[in-house]
Formats: sequence, C-alpha cells, structure tokens
Amino acid sequence: MRITDTSDTWWKNAVVYCLDVETFMDWNDDGVGDFAGLAQRLDHLQELGVTCLWLMPFYPTAEKDDGYDITDFYGVDPRLGHHGDVVEAIRTARDRGMRVIVDLVVNHTSDRHPWFRAARSSKDSPYRDYYVWRSDPPPDTSAEVVFPDQEDSIWELDERTCEYYLHRFYKHQPDLNVSNPAVRDEIAKVMGFWLELGLSGFRVDAVPFLLETAGIPQAEAARLPDPHAYLRDLRSFVGRRSGDGILLGEVNLPHEGQAEFFGGLAGDELTMQFDFIAMQKLYLSLARQDAAPLADALASRPPISPDCQWATFVRNHDELTLDKLSDDERDEVFTAFGPEESMQVYGRGLRRRLPPMVDGDPRRLRMIYSLLFSLPGTPVLFYGEEIGMGENLALDGRSAVRTPMQWTSARSGGFSRAAPSRLTAPVVEGPFSPEHVNVAVQRADPESMLAFMTRLVQRYRECPELGRAEFAVIDQPHRSVLAHRCTWGDGTLVAVHNLGPDACTVPLTLDGCDDEHRLVDLLQVGSTPLDRKGTASVALDGYGYRWLRVVGPASRRLV
Ligand code: NOJ
Repeated sequence: MRITDTSDTWWKNAVVYCLDVETFMDWNDDGVGDFAGLAQRLDHLQELGVTCLWLMPFYPTAEKDDGYDITDFYGVDPRLGHHGDVVEAIRTARDRGMRVIVDLVVNHTSDRHPWFRAARSSKDSPYRDYYVWRSDPPPDTSAEVVFPDQEDSIWELDERTCEYYLHRFYKHQPDLNVSNPAVRDEIAKVMGFWLELGLSGFRVDAVPFLLETAGIPQAEAARLPDPHAYLRDLRSFVGRRSGDGILLGEVNLPHEGQAEFFGGLAGDELTMQFDFIAMQKLYLSLARQDAAPLADALASRPPISPDCQWATFVRNHDELTLDKLSDDERDEVFTAFGPEESMQVYGRGLRRRLPPMVDGDPRRLRMIYSLLFSLPGTPVLFYGEEIGMGENLALDGRSAVRTPMQWTSARSGGFSRAAPSRLTAPVVEGPFSPEHVNVAVQRADPESMLAFMTRLVQRYRECPELGRAEFAVIDQPHRSVLAHRCTWGDGTLVAVHNLGPDACTVPLTLDGCDDEHRLVDLLQVGSTPLDRKGTASVALDGYGYRWLRVVGPASRRLV
C-alpha cells in the first residue's frame, strides 16, 4: 500500500447521507424514530451505496429546535434509545462499510442545560463565564438575528441577574463563550467522548458564530487568542484521537470567507465545508436554464489544500437558503421554484424539497442529481432524496422537509405502527405521499428514482477523479449546458448536463486527446469517437446528462 492510499482521505470520495434518527424508522412503535429502527434500515443505505452517515442531533433536548437545543452533550434522547443502541448502530454501520459522523452543536446550549441554569442563578456562578453577558442595554441588533420570524435581538435580558446574554439563534439557545478555556476543555471532552465510541468525526454546526467574539468587549477581544488557532486545535485533536476523523463545517459565507475556515492553503482547520454558494447558484442556473451562474461559482472557489474538500448538496434539513443571491436573483428562484408565500421562509429561502419544485419531472430530477454527483466535491444527500420525497407545507417553517421517511405504502409510510396522531411529525400528503413515493415499491422497479440513484452512486464510487480531480469547464456554445472535465492521475471524466428542455448536440474539444481516444458512456450504453483534433459531438436530450470516460489506447479502465 502506498502512503498516499486513498483510504486515508476517504472523505474525498464519500457519499454522505444525513438523517434524523427521530424521523427515520420507529422500531418500538411509540411514534418516534429510534436507533433500533436505524440499525434495521442500514442495509437500505448500504445498498444505496452510502459510505458515511451524518446523524443529526440525537442528544437530550428541550425540543424547541429539532434537537439543536441540547441539554446534555454526553447523553442520548431517551425517546431514541440509549448509549448501547448508539454503539450498536455505529458498529453495524461500520460493518456495512459506512462511517458515522454526528452533529457537534457547541455554538450554544439549550437554556435548560445545567451549565446555563447555573450560569443564570448568580453572577458569581462558576459557570457564568461559560456564556456571554453584557450589563448595558444592547443596541438594535434586529438585522443580525438568524431567525427573523421569531427574534428581534441577539441579546436577551436575564431577569434574575439583570444582564443580557448573547444568543445568535433563538433566545432559548444562549451562546457558549468559546474564548473561555474552560469551555474549550469541555468541548474537547465532548468530542473525545463520542470519538471513543467509534465515530469518524463531526458535522460542526454554525462555525462562524462559534468562533466569533461578538459581545466580548473590544479591548478584551483583542487580547484573546486567534479563534482560528482554536479551530486548528480542534482539527488536530480529532486527528490525534481518531486518525482519520473529519470536521465537516457549516459555514455559509462567501467563498473568500470560507477559505479562512479551511485554514487557507495550510488546510489545517475544517476538513470539509458545505459549498452554500455553489448550491445557491445552482438553483439560479436551474431557474434561468443557464449554466453560467453555477460555472462562475465553481470558478470562484478559492484554491484549497489537498487536506481539504468541498461538500456539495442540493437540499438539507434547513431552509433552502438563497441569502447570498441578489434580491433580483432570489426573486427569479422564488418565481421558478416556490412562487407562493407559503413555500418561502425568513424572506430568504424555500421550505421545499427538490422533487415538488420541479413538479416531479423525472428527467429534471435525474439530471440535477447526476450534476450534483459529477461536481467537484463530496456529495451529501438528505434522507428521502433517494426516492424523491416531497415536503409537507402544512407544517411550520423548516419542519416541512423533516417528515418521516417513507418506507412503504402502508399507514404512516411504514415509518411507525403507532397511531398517526402519535407520530413525531405527520407524513407527506398528496402526490408525494407514501402511497406514491416509498422505498418498497421503488426497490422492485428498475426504472425507479431509487434504482437510478443507486446506479449513480455506484458509478460515482467507481470514478475517484470526481472527488479528487482537477476540474475545468469545457467551452461549448450552448447556454443551457454545463460541460466539465475532471482529471486525476491517468483518469479523465467528462460530464455534460443540459439544464434546459431542448435537445442539442454539444461539440467538445479535449486537449491532449486524438482519434486514438473515445468517450465511453458511464450512465448508459454507448461510446462517441474523437477525431484527430480531439473533438467529438455529444448528443443531449432536453434535461439530458452524460458521464463520459476518456479511454485511450493504454487505458486499463473497466468501462
Ligand atoms: C444550524 C442548524 O443547521 C439549524 O437547523 C439550527 O436551527 C441552528 N444551527 C441553530 O441551532
């Protein structure tokens, strides 16, 4: 084995699958998903080809923010199971070739966390400095709140001690003071604890807020250690404790800002970051049927170290945020994919899943997932995407996309045998209900979305250049088409996607190729010859997509 063996950087080729244990599978019929249910469904994920599970928060919670309001960082929400169940699920996942990462939510705690209870009991509490306080009345911070429908300030008065505490998110989520060395030690201990149970790292919540020193008087802030040094410490801590563990960070900032959170070219801070910019520009491209916004976003990514990676996605558990688009651009996306006010949230995002946004059109859906898996980076799926689940707009806010997984056409989609009134969330109704969209029916249908996704994942895993390659957009004349090339070692893959409904023929010229090469289709049968100048004509249907492996005389690729 070479020391550059790709398994060391497994995350560059991973297929990450995010799920909430609470809505995935209920095994004890109490209406709430649980670890025992997850363990039963790991085979489904293995068959799909998932290589890394991301478990959303499963800790004891005050249940006001879908588990992101934690009352005990070391515990397990008793509705979901206990530590033994967690360990069994991790162990079974690993047996099926899947690593597990979990949410690390340490920007804040619930206000019911014992640290905060102690902190607010007296200004002299040893836990007081675990949080950020100010005594003078705060200025207007309404423009800084993350959830403008619920909050109008990032400071809340604590009646008992007559000081204000910082909360970037909801007022029931006081921000931890990570400039306090005692808090840093607590966070490291929490990470160490979960890593010891066999995890492969963390999805780190709200990283820019975690590192910020807002609320700390300026003179004091200037004396604090560099917050990025702290992120570097966390990365090396994970490396020391787990060997190959990762930090996958939530950093919704412009690309230049994200570069800092990778630790610049040193690459010693976050291992991966979600590419929120490419995600938002992807939707703009889809709305306009013009590949340019997406291509420009990919080109604007800062260079990163080989020790880092982008994570790509089309949907996650939050609103589909469009906050980095201009007002006009956002309106274009709203018009195309969520024209009704009930589909929008916080004035900046959509609370829909992808399939209803494209009216369930299988051609568009497949093209979009093909595009996702071909983009440079590591794709992250949100549970239910593999079968084309829709949302339930009758639910509040972001809950619309957090409905139970749809396993069968039975009552409650086979998620639970409890009475529907006891379910943790109601299932989707209408054309995307379990009757029409479920795993069991799609497993038996070779033409289903699930069968398509499984093939796509399999091909992706056979193409290591996708996660590791040098990426370049190939010039071609069609506005609606994105043609790109990924080269790694002796492998080159060309991907061509048509974001528009009209069929077209795409002329491609590939440097370094000639008539001894051909383009072999990976998602369908067939191949296309190249001429002496390395030029080929590739036919694309409306919303068509093709992955083409460049095969030369010396190629030993299995195609
Ligand atoms: C980020 C999470 O993605 C979101 O779901 C949550 O509401 C906030 N952090 C606050 O905890």
